[in-house]
Amino acid sequence: LIEINKLAKEEMNPELKMKIVKDIAKPYTALLTYYECAIDEVETKLNILNKEYSLNTEQNPIDSIKSRVKSIESIVEKAYRKNIPFTIDAIEKNIRDIAGVRVICNFPEDVYKIKDGLLLQDDITLIEEKDYIKNPKPNGYRSLHLIIQTPIFLSTGKRLMTVEIQIRTIAQNCWAALEHQLRYKKNINEKKSISLALKLLAEESAGIDIKMEMLKKRIYKDNILTDKKN
Ligand code: GTP
Ligand code: MG
Repeated sequence: LIEINKLAKEEMNPELKMKIVKDIAKPYTALLTYYECAIDEVETKLNILNKEYSLNTEQNPIDSIKSRVKSIESIVEKAYRKNIPFTIDAIEKNIRDIAGVRVICNFPEDVYKIKDGLLLQDDITLIEEKDYIKNPKPNGYRSLHLIIQTPIFLSTGKRLMTVEIQIRTIAQNCWAALEHQLRYKKNINEKKSISLALKLLAEESAGIDIKMEMLKKRIYKDNILTDKKN
């Protein structure tokens, strides 16, 4: 299997792919379950933060949460692409988005509220942070990415699991979905001009996000702690 990694970067042979998928399928099933547990842990933390913030402000910072565990096929492809040996250990160590949690927030400042609330917790370790909101990608992509470790508690003891968390606003999410579609369309004549339009749209959209937030602050300025009337 190690030899396979040394092959030139060609399109992966479908039979080879199936063999490797089979070889790692069994132990991967256990690992996959641990990643699902890690997602549960992170989602619970996020839901608690969301409820707590809404107690004080009458608003939920989180609109929705979408999570997924990467498929075996995608893991094998990524390992091949990045020259990672096809072993469970190497895969767990080197592929850090096997568990992915996407948090969609209402306003830009909610993104940072959620990040801060999460990172404050003493069982969460921040491994890496990429702030594509403060530093957008050249194509216009905006999102806050955190790679964290969270413990899951098994009968045999604690196991630390790596989770990728993407936190972004509704507008940023909408944009990313559109851009994602363009990325996977091969035969588009207007690709260049669409890319440019997307970039401009990302900037416009970021401006609207900020204006909406300012307006929200004006609406809530004077009655942060008023009682909720049924
Ligand atoms: P990967 O190896 O692909 O995971 O990239 P990376 O390790 O450089 O991580 P990065 O934080 O840049 O991106 C991780 C994930 O963010 C991707 O798998 C996508 O889900 C998302 N992402 C990053 N850049 C873009 C982008 O330009 N457009 C869209 N739609 N999504 C993006
Ligand atoms: Mg990724």
